Amino acid sequence: MIGFSRTSEDLACDGVALHAIAAAAGTPVYVYSAATLRQRYRELDAAFGDYPHAIHYAFKANSTRALVAELKALGSSVDAVSMWEVEVARAVGFAPRQIVFDGVGKSDAELESAVALDLKAINVESAGELARVEAIAGRKGVVARVAIRVNPDIDAKSHPHISTGLKINKFGIPSDDVVALLPSLKGRAAVTLVALHVHVGSQITSMEPIRGAARRLADLARAAQHAGVQLEYVDAGGGLGISYDGGAVPSFAEYASAFVDAIRPMKLPIVVEPGRSIIGPAGALIARVLDLKPRTASSDFAVIDAGMSELMRPALYNAFHLIEPVSARRGSPRQYELVGPVCESGDVVGRDRMLTPLEVGDLVAIRDAGAYGAVMASNYNRRPLPAEVLVDNGSWRVIRRRQTLADLLALEAD
Ligand code: LLP
Repeated sequence: MIGFSRTSEDLACDGVALHAIAAAAGTPVYVYSAATLRQRYRELDAAFGDYPHAIHYAFKANSTRALVAELKALGSSVDAVSMWEVEVARAVGFAPRQIVFDGVGKSDAELESAVALDLKAINVESAGELARVEAIAGRKGVVARVAIRVNPDIDAKSHPHISTGLKINKFGIPSDDVVALLPSLKGRAAVTLVALHVHVGSQITSMEPIRGAARRLADLARAAQHAGVQLEYVDAGGGLGISYDGGAVPSFAEYASAFVDAIRPMKLPIVVEPGRSIIGPAGALIARVLDLKPRTASSDFAVIDAGMSELMRPALYNAFHLIEPVSARRGSPRQYELVGPVCESGDVVGRDRMLTPLEVGDLVAIRDAGAYGAVMASNYNRRPLPAEVLVDNGSWRVIRRRQTLADLLALEAD
């Protein structure tokens, strides 16, 4: 039994009862299915068939050590967006040449270490950043491997906070400027252009922006060839959405073939940087009902012990996560407003949900929380970061313990 499914009345993860995990590990707790993680990775990998490709899992979605170690064992490489993600990757055993380094604001210190490590590529986001990398590499007497992030001016039709490919967004260099820059990139002493990179946004649920990004990447790779710049690969970014609400989303096969079809004539390997589509469905946040109180004539508040401090997505993007009782009680469904414990009215985890009746002490599962869940948790209201548990092959273990009061105070002076 792979992933989150019901054994009789009770919700389980890979066949292990969630109430047993919550009783031992406490709540709120993130629970991940190793089998789902493996299945998602292998499915994406297989979707490229024998076309040369590399999956650089996006650490920003979730970089808990045990999870990324599992991905490493499957053959994954890394997409990092800070030197700290690069260092976590190295601590887990990834080699520098397995790491691409993205990000719109890399500090000089970050660029210094990235150049020294000789990563697979530093994905530069502006002419200014390219010049900074070149100056650092020149000073060190080395040649830095860079990719240029292109801003293709394509609408990802996702939430405005996570759409990145429009001209008005801060990311990348506009396509026309890239074309103008290309001839000057031939035969530079301290930088070599190894790839072009696009990422138009996250949680993309239609093929149109993906096909548009693939076409743009192909056009620019052709322009590079004409300018006499020999690329090693193209980087198609991440962005494939998952179905939070049961609606249709493109498959890995459609996603992969959009890029393979566009890039095949140039015979260049394809790098992808998926985060959410690999780890999102593999995780759920398990919380306990702390209190119930009337809201309207037909609905109640269910106050749970996980809120915007543990899962920020609903408050930040008005994001929908399916919520279900771990053990369904008998009785007709009732409408609930599921709210967290944080002292803000915006701390709503699920609005107007029809659920089987809840009682104080019941557990609920907030589904598809594997991506951008634990990594975006905070200590707001001095709440400790929640524990994380990995279920694998019929057993489970804590892969990150819950923070303690001592942890919360550890960095502070009297
Ligand atoms: N590559 C680049 C350059 C990115 O900026 C991102 C995500 C990815 C790859 C991975 O994208 P994915 O495959 O996960 O869509 N916190 C937001 C999502 C922010 C995404 C940022 N960039 C959320 O909770 O929805």
